[in-house]
This record gives sequence, C-alpha cells and structure tokens, in this order.
Amino acid sequence: MKQSFFIDLFHNIGKISTENQTYCISGEQMMKKIIVASDHGAVTLKSDIISFLKTKNCDVNDMGVHSDTPVDYPDVAVAACREFKKGGYDFGILICGTGIGISITANKIKGIRCALIHDLFTAEMARAHNDANFIAFGGRVKYAVPVSEMIEKFMDTKFAGDRHIRRVEKMMEVEKTS
Ligand code: RB5
Repeated sequence: MKQSFFIDLFHNIGKISTENQTYCISGEQMMKKIIVASDHGAVTLKSDIISFLKTKNCDVNDMGVHSDTPVDYPDVAVAACREFKKGGYDFGILICGTGIGISITANKIKGIRCALIHDLFTAEMARAHNDANFIAFGGRVKYAVPVSEMIEKFMDTKFAGDRHIRRVEKMMEVEKTS
C-alpha cells in the first residue's frame, strides 16, 4: 500500500498523513479542539469533562444534551461524528449511560475509531495503538480512576506509528469491504 508521508504545514500541522489516514504524532503544545456529546444518561459527567477540558485550555464544542430528558444515543453519536468529520477537531468524547451504545454507533460511521475507555491503560493504548479519534465513557459507570485522568492520558499519548499504521489502515479498509 502506498504510504506517501507528508507534513501539512497548515491545518494538519503536527499530524502525519498517509494516503488514507491522518495520525496525530505531536501537537501537544497546540490548543486542542474537542467535541463532547452525551445522551441524558451522562449530563453530569459531560459537565465535569468540559470543566476539566477548560482547565487544559481546550476549545470545546459542547453538542449537548443539556438535560435528563430522554434522547436516543444513536442520534447523539451521529450528530457528533458528522460535526467531527467537517474537520478542525483533534478528537471527540461521547458519553451515554454505559458508553457502549454511543461508541457502537460511532464506530458504524466511516472514518470514526471510537474507543470505549475504562482505565489508564486503555486510554493510552486507544491513542498509541488504535489512533482513536473518539473516546467514550459511561455516565452511570463506576470507574476506579477519574475520567479526567483517563482523558489526560489519552491527550498526552502519541500514536506509536510503525506496525500500528498498517493495522489501523487494515481496520479502516473493513469499512470498504464489509
Ligand atoms: C439510556 O437509558 C441508556 O441505554 C444509554 O445511555 C446507554 O447506556 C446505552 O448504551
């Protein structure tokens, strides 16, 4: 597979691209632009996450929801992923009661790699090995470590490249052949 690496000096500064993929390899100095969206099962966690991201000087697009009036998590996932695909975002955070339904839905959208995170190790690997562009959490889940620490770990980790480029590209090829 042709892998024409280049550094885009404009929008994608700090990222490395192949023909099919863009990988975040640096850029921790840059202000990160992040989409955050939840269903009614995670409004409080969403607020906590947004407060945390603001302490990290992130530019946050809060796509709702803002109340505990029931909504359908697939609608939330699709809206957030469509917005992400317009470009300009570093990554997105999706939250529902468990993180499961919203991440399953996100992963059905072309170009999205949404990782359901549950500890610091999975937060690190989601970036280092899978180059996830979305991470998901559950507002009704009891985690052993604060969600903010998992997000920070994800943000501070770089894509490991090398053999993982091939694996990520194979993952994304499945979208075309399945
Ligand atoms: C909503 O009640 C709940 O099903 C949803 O938030 C999520 O947990 C689904 O995976």
